[in-house]
Amino acid sequence: MRGIETNRQSLEKAMQTKWAGKDIFYFETIDSTNAEAIRLAGKDGKHGTLVVANTQEMGRGRRGRSWFSPSETTISMSLLLFPDLEKEKASMLTLVQALAVSKAINEVAGLDSSIKWPNDILIHEKKVCGILTEMELGAGASYGIIIGTGINVNQESFPTEIENMATSIKKEGGKEISRVELIAKICTWFETYYAMFMETKDLSLLLEEYNQKLVSANKTVRVMDPSKEFSGKALGINSQGELLVEKEDGKVVNVYAGEVSVRGIYGYV
Ligand code: BTN
Repeated sequence: MRGIETNRQSLEKAMQTKWAGKDIFYFETIDSTNAEAIRLAGKDGKHGTLVVANTQEMGRGRRGRSWFSPSETTISMSLLLFPDLEKEKASMLTLVQALAVSKAINEVAGLDSSIKWPNDILIHEKKVCGILTEMELGAGASYGIIIGTGINVNQESFPTEIENMATSIKKEGGKEISRVELIAKICTWFETYYAMFMETKDLSLLLEEYNQKLVSANKTVRVMDPSKEFSGKALGINSQGELLVEKEDGKVVNVYAGEVSVRGIYGYV
């Protein structure tokens, strides 16, 4: 039973938001929902426009990797924003979306998830969701931010190469989940957390909740900075979304999202 069929009408009906996801572009197949949202940013796209696809032929992941989005069982969605925010702060919106996804998974599937900084969502220490934020710089001062989210929802199995690292909501919770319901809930929570973020234009009001979900909190991590790899204890994020890592000599280093990757010493997490 797949529940509600995923299409533009069912998404519009399920949406309970004021602006996020009120204007929906739905595709059975697309190259990448992020690429489409970028194209829309220069045309009909508005603040809150949502692009959803059943499957992507050229889904993009972080660090130039590709992202696999099988049809029927996964979510590929991109939210277009035109925020009144300095460009330098825009990457924090990725962490806002990570919180929204985690909260929505809990409400729809009844499962707790954690966050691998900055923005992978894990269930039982395996990845169910990745987020890729991209920017579209138009003419003038305004710019578009595209928050692309890929979620493993109803897959029952994964290729052997990734089965130790990846999972789906169905595999972990045992139940088929409605993609429509989950997308709508994500938009609801994004709208709530976005308002909290915009109040201070940083993560001050979301910090505590984010740190509670942080999978590496108080664990040893390895920071893969190309110029200086080092290990330390992850203390949590600060209001700018940086991960604070305490080195062995007691010095605390602020690690910026996007610049380095952080690996748990004992495996994926
Ligand atoms: C990651 O590498 O973890 C990020 C993956 C992001 C994938 C999503 S799927 C929807 C959107 N469109 C894309 O091409 N990529 C993002």
